[in-house]
This record gives sequence, C-alpha cells and structure tokens, in this order.
Amino acid sequence: MPLTYYLWASPSTLLAKCWEIFLPTRNASSSDAGGRFSIHMANTILVGMQWGDEGKGKIIDVLTAGADIVVRSQGGNNAGHTVIHRGMKYVLHLIPSGILRHRKICVIGNGVVIDPVALVAEIDGLRQLRVKIDTNLLISDCAHLVLPYHRMLDEQRELRRGRIGTTKRGIGPAYGDKAARTGLRLSDLMQPIVFSKKLQAKIIENNRILQALGAKPISFRDVNETYVAAGEKLRPYVTNTVVYLHKAMDKGKQILFEGAQGTFLDIDHGTYPYVTSSNTTAGGACTGTGVPPHRMDRVVGVMKGYSTRVGDGALPTEDASFAQMLHNLGREFGATTGRKRRCGWFDAVATRYAGMINGIDEIAITNLDGLDQVDPIRVCVGYQLHGKRLDVPPCDATQLANCEPVYEEVPGWKTSIHRARKFSQLPSAARKYVRYISELTGAKLSMVSVGPARGETIVL
Ligand code: IMP
Ligand code: MG
Repeated sequence: MPLTYYLWASPSTLLAKCWEIFLPTRNASSSDAGGRFSIHMANTILVGMQWGDEGKGKIIDVLTAGADIVVRSQGGNNAGHTVIHRGMKYVLHLIPSGILRHRKICVIGNGVVIDPVALVAEIDGLRQLRVKIDTNLLISDCAHLVLPYHRMLDEQRELRRGRIGTTKRGIGPAYGDKAARTGLRLSDLMQPIVFSKKLQAKIIENNRILQALGAKPISFRDVNETYVAAGEKLRPYVTNTVVYLHKAMDKGKQILFEGAQGTFLDIDHGTYPYVTSSNTTAGGACTGTGVPPHRMDRVVGVMKGYSTRVGDGALPTEDASFAQMLHNLGREFGATTGRKRRCGWFDAVATRYAGMINGIDEIAITNLDGLDQVDPIRVCVGYQLHGKRLDVPPCDATQLANCEPVYEEVPGWKTSIHRARKFSQLPSAARKYVRYISELTGAKLSMVSVGPARGETIVL
C-alpha cells in the first residue's frame, strides 16, 4: 500500500512526510511519463464516457506530458481528480491536473463555477505539498461564483423528495443563477464595492428562501468579509483567459481540455434529472473556454472496464455483489465525498452513445486491474424495455430505470496485471476483453491503465 495523503491532511504531517518524495514529482517533465510513450498531442479534449470517476485525472496526467496548457471548462469543486505519482496521492477539485508538472500552464475557464474560498484552500493545500503555483495558474474573470447560499440550497434540496444525490457543493444552484442571469462572477469579486452591493441583494433574496425551507439565514457581513478576502488572494491569477488561450494557440501551443464528471452526468445528454448542471460532453470544452470547435483536433474518451456511479439515478448494469467485491479491495470510494460508488458491469449501450455525442477519436480504458479476479466478466450489449430491444439509452429517467441489460459473458484472466507495460504483456483474455469493449464502443483503443500510478499505463 503506497503512502497516501489527501490535500486536506494536516500541513505538518504533509510537509514532514512528503518533502523527499515530492520534489521528483514536481520535476517530472515530458520525459518522465511521456518519454516512455510517444504521445501525440495537438488540441485534445478529454471526456468521461460514463458517469464520472472514469480515471480521467490519471489519464490527463499522462497526456499532460505532451501538452503546454491544461484547461478546465466546466463543473466546479464537485469534481475530484486523483493523480498518484511516486507514492503520493493528489486529489484536485478545481485546479487542472497539469499543475503537478513543470512548465505547464493551467487555466480555469469561463465555464467553471468557482467557490473562491474552496479554491484558495486548494491552492494552499497544494503549496504545502511544494507544488509551485504562481504564473502557471490563470482564472477566467467570467467564471461564476459559488457562494454559501448555493451550498445551503443544494443541501436543503438534498434533504427533500426528488433528491439527486449531489456532492452538496452548491454546483446546481450556482449554474441555476448563471442561467437565470442573476449570478455573481469573478469580475464582480475583483471590484469589492460592486461585489458587496450585489451580494447583499442576493443574500436578502436567498435568506427568504432558506428560511422558508427551514434553514438558518446567512450573515451578509461574514460572507462578504470572507469572500472579498479570498478574492484578493485570487486576484493575481484572474484574467481574460479567452484571449490568453487564443494568443497561445497562435504561437503553436497545445492545449489539453480536462473534462470533469462524465457523459451521463451532462445536463443535456445525461440521465436527467440525475445529472450535474454543466455540459460535461466535448461541446462544453468550447463554450467553457472560448476556443472554437474548428481548433479542436481530437477527442479522447476515458472509460472504466466496468461502470460506476455516485449519487442517485439509473445505473442499468448495477450489481451489488460486484460492488461489494470492489469495495472489499478498497476500490471505488468517491474522491470528493468519500461515498461508496455504485458499481456495475461494462455498459456498451452507454459508451457507444457517449462515442456518438462526443465524437470520440480514441479511448483510454482504465481500472482494468479491478477485474483481475473476476471470471466470467459480464458485458451489457443491449437493453430490453417492455420486450423491445434498445441499442441507445432512452432519454426518460423512468424508462431507463426499467431497462434490463442484455449480457454477454467473456472469460476473465484471474491474475494480476498491474506490472504490464506493453499490450503484449497483458494476458490474452485481458487483451481480448479490452479489444471487445472498444469494438462495441466503436472507437480506437489508445491507452489501457492497469493501476493508479502514472507509470501503470499501456500506450498502444
Ligand atoms: P452535483 O454536481 O454536486 O450537483 O451532483 C450531481 C450528480 O453528479 C450527483 O449524482 C453527483 O454524485 C454527480 N457528480 C458530480 N461530480 C461528480 C464527479 O466528479 N464524479 C462523479 N460524480 C459526480
Ligand atoms: Mg472523480
């Protein structure tokens, strides 16, 4: 078991334990993970093809070797991207995973919703781990703010019928305000007088709603003070990131767009209403950064060798005993909330649809080692709904919940694969399995992850 530390562990423990292990990580360059693999970059969008937690953090970390800039375009600190390198575990929520590598510029785009206090805490936590954050981080002045009343409304709604199973980070209410054109943005926070005035009006309005829901009202003075102070800490990073990205592209810089959550949590294409409140699919990378579609060169989709989901909503292939087996291995606990993830078999109906929506050029299959002891392995190749066969997921949540998966069984490999570094080093059953699920998905297989560490990756 490697030493693992979360960003929120006590600073002194972190400093004492991490000093030696950490420096090599910070010095990691393209030749470290990228060198063993030849990674073609160009402007690449990376998206999750399932319900989030596909292992995007790890794949982004590998791909970052070939990128100059890593950009987040949607979501907020509901995301939890885990990167493990040399026994150290980093969980990133708002800051792009590229921050862990030298000379990579990280951008938080206009489409992200930012809780300034959470972002300051994340920056401080990373600094305690000796991660350099100065001119390598840029934050869009157009990004919307997540404020305490958003979090409280999210919590209140989760106490009621029709709950979504959210991360309670205030993401839905913040995007709600954005769509209703009543949100506050980072540009407001950069003008404290303007911010305070707008905040006061918002707090008066939201306190009425909170009180009607039976929650305590919040104090304008406290929120104002805390958020203005956080804003001052963020000021050095705040800029027009659209202009920055365009200038960088003109100089030939290569951008990696780091998707958060997954296709079936997309506000439009996901299993509505059990979704997050942003476009998690490839199109979100354009709207959330101001980089137009024709500047995107390829889309990489990440999918697990099975399915998982946190929160409510249908997971057609869910299997309690399979989930129990993974949890017993210490796998599949949420990176943001620590919740047990629900688990099920690989769902090719879902991933094929994700391939369509995102225009997936290549896929990375992760967590293949989670199936090391499973035999046979089930693969969902279609759904049955009221006696009819479906090849795409229905839009309606109730219909989706009533879909019965149609399974095929394939042999497992019953051995540990985490040492494989070349495709040829995988057992034949594992090679067949990943080829099979890639074919069912309809995209080219380009990477297989056999463990959480940067090096535990096979590039085809
Ligand atoms: P929210 O984004 O906190 O509003 O949560 C809405 C739904 O998306 C819930 O089912 C969450 O569990 C899920 N969700 C949000 N962020 C993530 C993530 O990063 N990974 C997996 N699920 C997520
Ligand atoms: Mg996650």
